Amino acid sequence: MLDFGCGTGLLTEKVQSQVSNAISIDVAPSMIKVLQEKTKSGGWDNVEAYCVVAAHVGQAAPETKAALEAWKGKVDIVAFSSVLSFVPEGDLKATMKFLCHMLKPGTGMLMHSDWPKGEDQPDGFAKEKALAMHGMGGLQAKTTKTITMKTGGYDMPVFLGVATKTSLINDSSSPSNRPNKGRNTVNKCLRKKLSYSGVSQKKQLLLHTHSKVMSLALPWKWLHV
Ligand SMILES: C[S@@+](CC[C@H](N)C(=O)[O-])C[C@H]1O[C@@H](n2cnc3c(N)ncnc32)[C@H](O)[C@@H]1O
Repeated sequence: MLDFGCGTGLLTEKVQSQVSNAISIDVAPSMIKVLQEKTKSGGWDNVEAYCVVAAHVGQAAPETKAALEAWKGKVDIVAFSSVLSFVPEGDLKATMKFLCHMLKPGTGMLMHSDWPKGEDQPDGFAKEKALAMHGMGGLQAKTTKTITMKTGGYDMPVFLGVATKTSLINDSSSPSNRPNKGRNTVNKCLRKKLSYSGVSQKKQLLLHTHSKVMSLALPWKWLHV
């Protein structure tokens, strides 16, 4: 899993025992330092943390560049929470392309949670904005939804976006897209994908399919603290 904009690693910490490897990146050296200390004291030998600007990996330290290059095309899940709103507009396309390049071709999934658009968040996320972001990276099979999280006695809306790198699910020319057969194909795909990443299907992911469209959401507690 790649935890993009990991901050001090709240998400990395939650999932590190559930995934084979976590690569955590953030633009802020102070955040990465905290995560590297947690990694060391926790003995998490499957976690790597790097300070890098996603849109400018070419300018990163040589060892960071080499480490990220080694993971290119091998990541099952790119997950991030409350990050896209902080990426400068001019960096968005290169950022999404970088994340897409890191994903495993055919099976990689990208999942993100953000602030939903609302009266107090006019620049927040709605379906159109998420689809535009997914499109910038060349990702497909998009799903978006706003859920409500109960926190500290009040309801907080949270936007979730999912995009995949697979073309199988959306291939309308394929006979496997007939309702039942299509559903089985999607489920088979997902099971394979999840077993690659070592994520437990039952505990971690809610997934459901309807006709040709795959819909998948992570429980909030998995994406955030
Ligand atoms: C609100 S914090 C979220 C931190 C973490 N994902 C969490 O949920 O606790 C946003 C993080 O995104 C990082 N960030 C913003 N733009 C970035 C970029 N272009 N590349 C990498 N990290 C970035 C910031 O440094 C910050 O740590």
